[in-house]
Amino acid sequence: ATAVACALSTTAVRADELTVGFSQIGSESGWRAAETTVSKSEAQKRGVNLKIADAQQKQENQIKAIRAFVAQGVDAIFLAPVVSTGWDTVLKEAQEAEIPVILLDRDIDPSGKDLYLTAVTSDSVHEGKVAGDWLVQTLNGKPCNVVELQGTVGASVATNRKKGFEDAIAGHSNVKVVRSQTGDFTRAKGKEVMESFIKAEGGGKDICAVYAHNDDMMVGAIQAMKEAGLKPGSEILTVSIDAVPDIFKAMAAGEANATVELTPNMAGPALDALIAYKKNGTVPPKWIQTESKLYTAADNPQAVYESKKDLGY
Ligand code: AHR
Repeated sequence: ATAVACALSTTAVRADELTVGFSQIGSESGWRAAETTVSKSEAQKRGVNLKIADAQQKQENQIKAIRAFVAQGVDAIFLAPVVSTGWDTVLKEAQEAEIPVILLDRDIDPSGKDLYLTAVTSDSVHEGKVAGDWLVQTLNGKPCNVVELQGTVGASVATNRKKGFEDAIAGHSNVKVVRSQTGDFTRAKGKEVMESFIKAEGGGKDICAVYAHNDDMMVGAIQAMKEAGLKPGSEILTVSIDAVPDIFKAMAAGEANATVELTPNMAGPALDALIAYKKNGTVPPKWIQTESKLYTAADNPQAVYESKKDLGY
């Protein structure tokens, strides 16, 4: 045992000797911007050199960035995959170069399971389920036509949040999703798609609730509803995901109802897992799950806004 311990300690790697390449999706949402800021500060706290490549929403840019990180011989790669398919070839290249890959906040298809060390993500089906359960409970049997703003097409979180919501409303025939379209996780697109939903649904009179796969799209949708003379938060219920400060501002103003929190700190647990793996070979679980918490207008939104607004959002 002593010999093994000695052998391990001589090969031990210090956190401040590690260089990690992070292929980040872009800056489509307030949550994403916060994740980038928090990743930098979590790396700094541990003395890790974190190199971030912004893919501007394009998978081809992420693939190029991963290849560049492999060529540079980084110690590990963090990947927030914009979509879930199309990673096998490039992740095999990283594996052949013996560079561990850790997924952050989104998943890839199960076919790629052996190509990464661990994934730090929330349970995004559960997030959709929590959002749907809240709506079902709030409605208490009242008939409700829901419009849905989906996230980026092909992103694991968009597929899963849609499924979770559908699971929650299944068996509640009073709740129906009457329109569902992507708003690409952005405020601008969320507003634009909501405007088209309002037009198509009797000027908004036929809409009882909006479900958005993130808060940014909901903030855009709230704007569209207000411009159409509707009252989000009272006439039209809202539920979305992320818990960014601006949704709490809207809740405090009575214009939003509920959000499911997604922590922007994916890098902290990923770095801890990586450091343990590099230092003493500790293999992390395949999935490091982050928490999902429901907030409603009853949770003192002004105070939550104050506590969150300086956290990198
Ligand atoms: O993958 C996480 C999602 O990506 C966030 O919920 C959304 O805001 C972001 O764009």
